[in-house]
Amino acid sequence: MPETLTVTDNRTGKSYELPIVDGTVKAMDLRQIRTSADDFGLMAYDPAFTNTASCRSAITFIDGDAGILEYRGYPIEQLAEKSTYLETAFLITYGHLPTAAELQTWTDHITMHTFVHENIRKFMDGFRYDAHPMGVFVSTVAALSTFYPDAADVDNPESRELQTWRLIAKVPTIAAFTYRQSRGLPFIYPDNSLSFAANFASMLWRMSEPNYHSNPVIERALNILFILHADHEQNCSANAMRAVGSSRPDPFVSTAAAAAALYGPLHGGANEAVLRMLVEIGDKKNVPDFVKKVKAGEGRLMGFGHRVYKNYDPRAKIIKRTADEVFELTGRNPLIDIALELERYALEDEYFIARKLYPNVDFYSGIIYQALGFPVEMFPVLFAIPRTAGWVAQWREMITDNEQKIARPRQVYTGARGVDYVPIGARG
Ligand code: SDX
Repeated sequence: MPETLTVTDNRTGKSYELPIVDGTVKAMDLRQIRTSADDFGLMAYDPAFTNTASCRSAITFIDGDAGILEYRGYPIEQLAEKSTYLETAFLITYGHLPTAAELQTWTDHITMHTFVHENIRKFMDGFRYDAHPMGVFVSTVAALSTFYPDAADVDNPESRELQTWRLIAKVPTIAAFTYRQSRGLPFIYPDNSLSFAANFASMLWRMSEPNYHSNPVIERALNILFILHADHEQNCSANAMRAVGSSRPDPFVSTAAAAAALYGPLHGGANEAVLRMLVEIGDKKNVPDFVKKVKAGEGRLMGFGHRVYKNYDPRAKIIKRTADEVFELTGRNPLIDIALELERYALEDEYFIARKLYPNVDFYSGIIYQALGFPVEMFPVLFAIPRTAGWVAQWREMITDNEQKIARPRQVYTGARGVDYVPIGARG
């Protein structure tokens, strides 16, 4: 059977053969379907891109029905159990697991770029004491663009390598500085003798001790959480990275745009919204009433549902297990009992079953972050740190994809036409 779609335009009786490639038909193949020579031709209409493939990508595979997530073909469960964030960031960036030598070189490059220009400190001092950390993060990542004008040379492979190292290395520093500033604490500079996760913990929590000794349980939990959040194919923020990057500015401002998209409560801001929701519920006994309000359309069950997963988000399962390990150290976060009851109750309710709404990555992550001592406002920033590796990998793939060019969607125009100008005195 030919890999084609035969469509008949009933307006003209004409039939067309549209090639089917990789389970898609090219939207541009619709343009030949016209009613007359001066007809523009058909377009595909797909608000929010619910059924539109915007690119070819080899980075992340998701099977939403089966609840499968793989980075470069490696199951997320194996990476979370056996890898580290930096090793996974290498995998996402280059497409293969590093040899020992490659990992050492990669680690050295990242380690050598953890510092930020001193003026960044002054820049961050300009924010109010209660500025939301995500607003600080987005602005400061964009400000990095002004310190590295060489990053504008996006067609230069060496420059792309250098900016890759800079972005992955500097976002934890910016995040930690943001946290310290919100606490009125002096900034702690990177300690290049520590691992990626231990250095992040040191920049967050070191006080007067000369050297920070990170707890291996916390280091492991941060690595797992960072691995789970590193990429997720063409989500809202990856789409922002690709769309902004397609006009070819430097990758710092594109990353800032992606982080801005992540900030939204429907995306990476959901982990913060989940915590606020659990605090609002307050007790397991209030779960039925809360779910009743959600079903009545009074708000959403944050941390539930997903555009792609119509099954349990595999990351949520792993995070749930990691929570128990963290609680052994920090003590059990009582909010987890409300979350577990909310999950149990919702997964038995026809409203959620019919809509295939399951816990997503954000449902349990905030509970761990809170147990580790992070304020709720920091949660989206903790998502943005590892997702920077995914955004940069998506950007690198887009920049070198010959099928790609500046992203510029079409529209269905619904406004007025041919209206004559009326002088202000005659406008009634
Ligand atoms: C992330 O895309 C990614 O990959 C993102 C992410 C990543 O790693 O990058 O996985 C990270 O962003 C996870 C999602 C975090 N967001 C939340 O937890 C916020 C709550 N969830 C939703 O708002 C919603 O589920 C979305 C945004 C995640 C998905 O929305 P869709 O696919 O556009 O689905 P929809 O809004 O069209 O909902 C379909 C139906 C609607 O009901 P009806 O109008 O058909 O009656 O399901 C309902 C919605 O009202 N619904 C919910 C719900 N999510 C969807 N109802 C109650 N609670 C919810 N959470």
